[in-house]
Order: sequence, then C-alpha cells, then structure tokens
Amino acid sequence: MRAIQYDEHGGPEVLREVTLPDPVCGPGDVLIEVKAAAVNRLDALQRRGPGLLPGFTLPHIPGTDVAGVVVATGSAVTTRSVGDRVLVDPSLNCGSCPACARGDSAYCPGMRVVGGSRQGGYAELVAVPETHAHEVPAHIGLEEAATIPTVYGMAWQALVVHGGLRSGETLLVHGAGSGITIAAVQIARRLGARTIVSSGSDDKLARTAKLGVDATVNHATGDLVERVREVTDGRGADIVLDHVGPALFQRSLSALRIHGRLVFCGNTTGMTASFNLTDAYHRGLTLIGSESYGHEAFGRMLDWYWEADCESVFDSVFPLAEAAESHHRLESGELFGKILLTT
Ligand SMILES: NC(=O)c1ccc[n+]([C@@H]2O[C@H](COP(=O)([O-])OP(=O)(O)OC[C@H]3O[C@@H](n4cnc5c(N)ncnc54)[C@H](OP(=O)(O)O)[C@@H]3O)[C@@H](O)[C@H]2O)c1
Ligand SMILES: [Zn+2]
Repeated sequence: MRAIQYDEHGGPEVLREVTLPDPVCGPGDVLIEVKAAAVNRLDALQRRGPGLLPGFTLPHIPGTDVAGVVVATGSAVTTRSVGDRVLVDPSLNCGSCPACARGDSAYCPGMRVVGGSRQGGYAELVAVPETHAHEVPAHIGLEEAATIPTVYGMAWQALVVHGGLRSGETLLVHGAGSGITIAAVQIARRLGARTIVSSGSDDKLARTAKLGVDATVNHATGDLVERVREVTDGRGADIVLDHVGPALFQRSLSALRIHGRLVFCGNTTGMTASFNLTDAYHRGLTLIGSESYGHEAFGRMLDWYWEADCESVFDSVFPLAEAAESHHRLESGELFGKILLTT
C-alpha cells in the first residue's frame, strides 16, 4: 500500500510517501480502505517530536481520524462485513482490564492510538478491531465522517461528560478556527445552550457567526470579560471551555458567573497557568480537567451525531501525496475547520 510516513522528527518535509506491505488483518480486525483522513494538531506535534503518546515509535504513519470501506474481515469478526462504510474510534482500549471493565477506558493501560502510537490513517489501508470500526449511516459522507472522531469526541467529553452543559446555559469557548471549538459550538447549540466564541481574528469570528453563534468577542482588541457580562445581563457565562491554556486562563475564570464551571482540555499556549485563587474560591468556581474520551462516551457521541444534523466545516482538502502541504497549512495559523487527506 501507499502511505505517508516519517522516520525522523522535523518539519513537514519529513513526511514521505512510501510503499509498504498491506497491514495484517488479525482475527478480530477489519481491514479498511481509507477514503479520508483528517489532519490533527497531534500529527504535527509528534512529527516535530518528541513522540507524545506512550508506545510511539519511529518510523510512524500519522492519522488518528479515519473513514473508509471495509475490504476484508478477520476470521472472528461478527459485526462488520466487507463493503461497510465505517469510521474509526482511534483510541484502541483493550476491553478487558479493570479500567475498561468499569467503563473508564480512557485509563486503559494497554491503550494504543491509531495514528498516535501505532500505524495511522495517512495510508491506503488500515486494520483495526471491529469494536472500533463504527458503521457510518448512509446520510453521512465519508469525508464528513473522518472529521468527527477527535474533535467531537473531545468536545463531547468536555461539555457533556464533564461539563454537564444544560439547555438554557451560556457557553464561552475560545479559538474560533479550532476544530474542537467548532464541534463544541454545534453540540452546545443542539443541546439548547447559548454560545459565545472568542478569537484573536475578526475574520474567523465572522465565519463562526455563520454557524449560528449567539455572540463573538475579539479578545485581542476588546475586553473579553466585559463582553461576556454584556451579553449575559451582567451574570457571566455558566461554563467556559478552555483549550487555549495560559494565554486566556484568568480571563476564562473571570468571565464565569458565580458557581460557574471551567472545563479545560488543552495547552496550546503553554503548560502552566496562574490565576487568582481568592477570586476563584470566593465565587465558588469549579475547575474541571477533561481527559481524552473513552470508548463508551465515543459511542454515545456518535449515536447523537448521526441525528444531530451538524455542519461539517472543511478548511481544505489535499490528496494523500500532499500530506506535507497539509501540515504547512495546519501550522499556518489561518486554519478554520478541518483539513482532510483523501486517497
Ligand atoms: N484533552 C485531550 O485529549 C485533547 C484532544 C485533542 C486536542 N487537545 C488540545 O486541544 C487544543 C485545541 O486543539 P485544536 O487542534 O482544536 O486547536 P488548534 O487548531 O491548535 O487551534 C488552537 C486555537 O487556539 C487559539 N490560539 C492560539 N494561540 C493563541 C493565543 N496566544 N491566545 C489566544 N488564543 C490562541 C487560536 O484561535 P484563534 O485563531 O481563533 O484566535 C487557534 O484557533 C490543543 O491544545 C490540543 O492539544 C486536547
Ligand atoms: Zn483496557
């Protein structure tokens, strides 16, 4: 098969097209002909190095978000057939350890991540356990399907599993062009919540407004906290989703109402944030870290997504052979929505 692989860390130029033996389809696996793979921040972070996920090795084929068609099934497979249109839940938990048994598979010690710590979807073929190949309904295209796993999995985990977002609440989320933000906005709106998006780019905010966002604020040129108070009748947001980290962390807390919740799940601007402790406890704020989603939550998210009529937002589409160009685009700072590679 053709694949995009790197055998040393570096810039986008280390992504090289190679020809490799087809993946082995084990007894419980399905072999998928990849139709589309989304490009994620993790792909670029690991390409630059070091490998971040436990079990990462070189050479590596990136690509956590994959959709395609089943072309072969292992001898023990019972739930999938050749011809099925599927997307991959990339977090391959073992299914039998104590963490998996108690429904906490994000903490499975045997976890391997497609495109993170084992071969990924920048390839013509990928083999995964049938348990992690979810059938895609006919009304969802495979290109759309490839954009779902990481950003919807993450936004669902943060807002629904951890944040407990409810109808009528107001969500503030930062980073207008981020895939997680776009997914969060669509989930929140469909749960009946109001949404405020912040960004450093007026252009991105204008595009976000077309997704039905209730209010926007440019945190580089305006007062983020004032703006949130203005659109919430002085109260503040019920919940903030912060994947940006230190650059906005204090403002995230300040924008919350009394007893508001800050859910944080990223560190784009650094690993360490400082904030005013007194303000946080006097206003009874709750800070919630949101880890990667587990297998069970992923399945519930998909069941919701299939009926939710979400809008796919594609930044750009590249042929597989132009994976290096797709990474230049990812790292350009201009991104709005998902980048796709198609075979
Ligand atoms: N917890 C998990 O398991 C998990 C899973 C996936 C991703 N993540 C994390 O989630 C984060 C977001 O991922 P992503 O791929 O969706 O986002 P991304 O494409 O990396 O977007 C980051 C956004 O952050 C904003 N930003 C960048 N620098 C900023 C600054 N100095 N000040 C304010 N805003 C800034 C930008 O928004 P504007 O251009 O609109 O201003 C940009 O759109 C990353 O940190 C990623 O590692 C965590
Ligand atoms: Zn396990």
